[in-house]
Amino acid sequence: MKALIIRSFTEPPTISEDFPIPSVDRTYSVLVKVLAVPIENLDRAVAAGTHYSSSFWHQSFPSIPGASAIGRRVDNQHLVYLPGMSMRPGNGAMAEYTVAKEDSIMDLEETQRLSSMVASLSSAQTSLLPLKYDQPLSPSDTVIINGATGFAGKLAVQVARHLGIRNIIATGRSEERLTALRRLGATQSINTNSIQSGLAQSELSGNVSIIDYLWGSATTAILRSLIPTSPANLRQTILYEIGSAAHEPEITLPATAIRTSGVQIRGLMTLNNLKNRSAATRELISLLGSGVLQGDTEDVTLEDAADIWRKTPSSGIRNVIRME
Ligand SMILES: NC(=O)c1ccc[n+]([C@@H]2O[C@H](COP(=O)([O-])OP(=O)(O)OC[C@H]3O[C@@H](n4cnc5c(N)ncnc54)[C@H](OP(=O)(O)O)[C@@H]3O)[C@@H](O)[C@H]2O)c1
Repeated sequence: MKALIIRSFTEPPTISEDFPIPSVDRTYSVLVKVLAVPIENLDRAVAAGTHYSSSFWHQSFPSIPGASAIGRRVDNQHLVYLPGMSMRPGNGAMAEYTVAKEDSIMDLEETQRLSSMVASLSSAQTSLLPLKYDQPLSPSDTVIINGATGFAGKLAVQVARHLGIRNIIATGRSEERLTALRRLGATQSINTNSIQSGLAQSELSGNVSIIDYLWGSATTAILRSLIPTSPANLRQTILYEIGSAAHEPEITLPATAIRTSGVQIRGLMTLNNLKNRSAATRELISLLGSGVLQGDTEDVTLEDAADIWRKTPSSGIRNVIRME
């Protein structure tokens, strides 16, 4: 079969025209013909050997990348979603066929929105889980999306709007992209180049949830801005750290920010989120299938994927390999 393969952590992937079709075994018992695979930042980091799970997914070489996919089961022709962790290490989805665990596969309705759905399911979880399942918000609360101009951030704005949140603050560094976010549902925007004054002028209501895709100096500024100017601070504030797209791996965390605002900093893996991952995925399948949420994608071939692997993708757009 045709597959994108990596031969080491130091070389980019190349195309193989005659890679063996994977055989099923007791654990990975379902053979799936792949239709659509997103090229995630995660796939690139794993294949470059720079992600903590690189050696788990690529235990030997040659090895096929591709953490999630939509495809068709070979045994019954059902359209299925293969989430992360469902495929056998070494037999990722960037190939004509892959093998997956029966109990991880999710059946899908037939849909014309394969690319948006496959690219968005894991990214949209990073906002739906915190905002709906971890600490449900009320419409009068505030959501701050730090790094809202990226692929996941744009979905987060749509998720917050879908949940009925009336105060959605988007941050980013491009005025043009921040303006476009207003059309998706953002109600305030702050340029990260002048984040301190922007935060000082912004209006917060109710409890505050911050979905943080950037980290670094913008996050430090947000945490500093939480220090109240009066003792009457009676709101709960939670910051969910999702990504570090600003490439600044560390922040400054003033003790006062925690002591005065009570801000809690969480990752995505909270007890409530872990319990509700499947429910959130099912909900997102429905929202993406009906077009209520939409990820911005650009379709590429497997050959294109090899060419663009080490190029920076267009901002806010996810490439999806289509195998039909
Ligand atoms: N844990 C998970 O499951 C999960 C899922 C999805 C994403 N993530 C993580 O979340 C982060 C964002 O993902 P993504 O898919 O949205 O990435 P993306 O589409 O590449 O977007 C990154 C965004 O960050 C912005 N940005 C970068 N540096 C900035 C800075 N210094 N100030 C302001 N904006 C800045 C970029 O702005 P420009 O548009 O101006 O270039 C871009 O819009 C990544 O770290 C990713 O790994 C994690």
